Amino acid sequence: MKQQGYLITLEGIEGVGKSTHMEFIQHVLEAKGITPLMTREPGGTPIAEAIRHVFASHHDEPMTDETEFLLLFAARAQHVQARIKPSLTSGKWVVCDRYIDASYAYQGGGRGIPLERIAQLEAWVCQGCLPDLTLLLDAPVPLALSRIQCRAAADRVESEKVVFFQRVRDAYLARAAQFSARFRVIDASGSPESVQMQLHTVLTEFIENH
Ligand SMILES: Nc1ncnc2c1ncn2[C@@H]1O[C@H](COP(=O)(O)OP(=O)(O)OP(=O)(O)O)[C@@H](O)[C@H]1O
Ligand SMILES: [Mg+2]
Repeated sequence: MKQQGYLITLEGIEGVGKSTHMEFIQHVLEAKGITPLMTREPGGTPIAEAIRHVFASHHDEPMTDETEFLLLFAARAQHVQARIKPSLTSGKWVVCDRYIDASYAYQGGGRGIPLERIAQLEAWVCQGCLPDLTLLLDAPVPLALSRIQCRAAADRVESEKVVFFQRVRDAYLARAAQFSARFRVIDASGSPESVQMQLHTVLTEFIENH
């Protein structure tokens, strides 16, 4: 096993079940003797969580795409330097609910920010902390959105329309095809148990090979 810890990221559009399965993922790792840092983006530190609040809230003016993009990378800069990098360097595994691929999917695919610009900030902000394994939970947009309909109030991003999330899903799937070595696409359209069976298989294989 290498000295550094591994970074596992969980990606997918709203309602596919990322947060639902974080605890299960933690249990699978713990059963193998790994105690991971479980964290999320945007957020994961007090400053980054404060940025998340600004990012997710509705405001009296529209948020520009550039503001949204930079807010997410500002939160990521704090998260990487304060928590992710120190953890990986000390040999701790990190599991993150959303990370860099979310910027490509949402700000790239969803908002139309040029991919080269995202890549520039990725190189600057991620400081070499790139995912070793990315679990893409994938489900048709209407199904995923139907699961979060009962949430009390939709946040700023959740209020986007179906076509927006379709672009985000397509961008995620395009990245999974482009970076197939680290991506695993999980069919998240079935029951929570069926998703967990797939996650268990993929995680067990990853742990045994690292
Ligand atoms: N496989 C599943 N089948 C049915 N319902 C599910 C499934 N997975 C999750 N859910 C439910 O769907 C809702 C959304 O799940 P969750 O909050 O985990 O999604 P998420 O991917 O974290 O969304 P967000 O990106 O908005 O944080 C929750 O109420 C959860 O209980
Ligand atoms: Mg969630």
